[in-house]
Amino acid sequence: MKIVDLHALNSVLDRIIMTSPLSEVSETLKSLGQDHLLAWWPELSEAEQQSLLQQIQAVDFSTVQSVWSKSQVAASPTDAAAADDGVARADIAAAPQTVVRQPVSAEDHELWEAATVVGNQLLSDGKVAVITVAGGQGSRLGFEHPKGMYQIGPATDRTLFQIFAEQIQARKLRHGGEIPWLIMTSSATHDETEQFLQANSFFGLDPASVFLFQQGSMPAVDAATGKVLMSDKGTLCLSPDGHGGLVTALKTSGLLDKMASMNVEHFFYHQVDNPTVIMCDPALLGLHHQHDSQLTTNVVKKVSPMERMGVLVDMNGHLEIIEYSELNEEQASREDASGQWIFWAGNTAIHVFTRTFFEELTNDGCQLELHLASKKVACLQDDGTLLEPTEPNANKFERFIFDALPLAKNALIVEGNRDREFNPVKNAEGSDSPATSKAAMNRIFREWALAAGLQVADNVDLEISPLHALDEAEFTARVADGTLKVSDICGG
Ligand code: UD1
Repeated sequence: MKIVDLHALNSVLDRIIMTSPLSEVSETLKSLGQDHLLAWWPELSEAEQQSLLQQIQAVDFSTVQSVWSKSQVAASPTDAAAADDGVARADIAAAPQTVVRQPVSAEDHELWEAATVVGNQLLSDGKVAVITVAGGQGSRLGFEHPKGMYQIGPATDRTLFQIFAEQIQARKLRHGGEIPWLIMTSSATHDETEQFLQANSFFGLDPASVFLFQQGSMPAVDAATGKVLMSDKGTLCLSPDGHGGLVTALKTSGLLDKMASMNVEHFFYHQVDNPTVIMCDPALLGLHHQHDSQLTTNVVKKVSPMERMGVLVDMNGHLEIIEYSELNEEQASREDASGQWIFWAGNTAIHVFTRTFFEELTNDGCQLELHLASKKVACLQDDGTLLEPTEPNANKFERFIFDALPLAKNALIVEGNRDREFNPVKNAEGSDSPATSKAAMNRIFREWALAAGLQVADNVDLEISPLHALDEAEFTARVADGTLKVSDICGG
């Protein structure tokens, strides 16, 4: 994947807008074919005019224009472009060559245990921070708040944020080292996330160890003309710039430097939608460190070829992810000579990044490339009335964090335990829904309880706080030494 140098172009436009009278801004926009953005200027208050100028100033028009123009080459701007690209990519992609698989033999177990020791040490030494990407709008779930506020605990209605916070707290207590928690929000989720964490006293974490930072925005453009859309007379249609916006946001927020000053060496990265993620998984951290990897990715075997997961592939000798939207059924079902799906390695979006890798990526103001998506976006029409489209009318732009994968000098793939650690909440119903995620948590906690010799009734919801036990071994040990009781299992 490419990195695009935007810096020079942006700063030219910034200078023009900052220092020029309105007529010059208008001329600049005109030359870019975007002068409609000032169409209602006289009707705006001074504050609205100021705000509009700031929004315009933040837009990287040249990149928007070039990505949109490229998409016009395809018959349909988004899926067709992706699919055309996917045909070629799917044809040359092979199953990843080297994957650290789940342990089976005694030798495997020794390897994983040795990695766990290394990971435990990194955590004790305070060399790990958590990054939770929580800037998405969660439209598929139909939840009108930041997804981290979704109540997913099967017996207690704990929210996703509470589960993550308690896992981090439990890890800190177990290992003794500091674990900063970096939560990436967007303009769509920031204020509510901040208020929610404050109102809940950061679920027991020291507020000084929790860092909220906002990713950038990108404008939506009219799919037919490439013109930036407006939601009202003084406001552009803006949306989060994708989780790949993390790279720039870490830098511009100052958090990359801050983490360096705190001696953080690795970031454990996860998505806000998966309550069973093993936060700061010591084995994964240890394998990452032992292999001197810059970017380690956790994968699981897809349940079906068309499951909506990106897949890790080997592309001409380097690792890449092909998104699910890029593969048709025939491609997704292809098998290798051994009868294994080529596209088996589903991306759980659990990664470990080395801090210095982010530093390399952010050098020279470079950013990950932009992808285009076709969406329905309500927008102002030329006559000033609002259009509520029923079909996709707009293109949005997003960067994907996994485009960093082929840029890593050394990347590693590790197979995770799917049942235990990948049970996301994405859709309101069906697969990857609250129902499937809660059922998974019930199953996991029931297994722990049975392993500890406890009797648990069937058909009751079970939940074990991370503060009581982070894993089955800890739960069993604590039941055996009497520090945990049946009443500590909620619902049991
Ligand atoms: C994602 C991955 C897919 C992977 C699957 C695993 C992408 C494009 N695809 O699919 O390869 O197999 O997860 O569950 O990511 N987010 C932001 N800011 C944004 C956009 C998203 O922080 O601007 C966050 C969301 O809050 C969420 C995560 O990124 O935590 C995933 O985003 P989503 O777009 O839902 O990805 P999926 O389609 O589920």
